[in-house]
Amino acid sequence: MRPVDTNADQTPLVVELSATEFRDRLHEALSIYVAAMGYPHGTEYHRAPMWNEHLQRSGWRGVGALVPAGDGSTDNAARLVAVAYGYRGAPEQWWHQQVRSGLRHTGWTRDQIDVILGNYFELTELHVHPDAQGHRLGETLLLRLLERRPERGVLLSTPEVADEDNRAWRLYRRLGFRDVLRHFRFAGDNRPFAVLGRGLPL
Ligand SMILES: CC(C)(COP(=O)(O)OP(=O)(O)OC[C@H]1O[C@@H](n2cnc3c(N)ncnc32)[C@H](O)[C@@H]1OP(=O)(O)O)[C@@H](O)C(=O)NCCC(=O)NCCS
Repeated sequence: MRPVDTNADQTPLVVELSATEFRDRLHEALSIYVAAMGYPHGTEYHRAPMWNEHLQRSGWRGVGALVPAGDGSTDNAARLVAVAYGYRGAPEQWWHQQVRSGLRHTGWTRDQIDVILGNYFELTELHVHPDAQGHRLGETLLLRLLERRPERGVLLSTPEVADEDNRAWRLYRRLGFRDVLRHFRFAGDNRPFAVLGRGLPL
């Protein structure tokens, strides 16, 4: 684990997590996801195989925020309070295919779609435990995750909310993410999503 922020008090340390470290903390990471998104208990069990499979994808990178145990013990005793990961987008991925079809139906030309989907990092998950939200941890994780990425751009999807009035939307807009698709419905999910993107480096 490679710390990127020093910590004087109990402020979380933002660290890059290897795939192995992430797998070891998978249950903890999924608990943060469920708490942050307000999903019903049990959702984590459905998600675990998918997050596990994502770990194998080309260009995968994960980051986390750890609160040290306070007794000088090892990294393993620290509590994970925020997590983010993503990987390089590719045509065989379900998300990529869904977005391609959404763009086609919205009237984008094949050439434009190839530019958007030709070389991007998919920001797949970004979650801060509710107890730790509001302190720019989300922003710190996002910046760390996108640091020195080789891709031309970054894409993500987030649920639509009225007036873009939640922390996720404010964060993405603040960092310059623009609309790629709005009110888009992924197959098998009735909720409308936005797909947002921007060029890299940030
Ligand atoms: C979205 C989420 C990751 C953001 O993380 P966070 O640490 O809570 O929030 P931020 O890093 O944006 O920073 C929080 C606050 O710091 C302050 N802040 C951040 N950047 C700032 C800046 N450049 N200047 C001044 N203040 C700033 C703001 O007050 C901000 O709160 P606001 O967005 O209500 O205005 C987190 O709230 C979360 O997990 N939400 C639930 C799950 C979710 O929606 N995930 C994304 C799904 S796509």
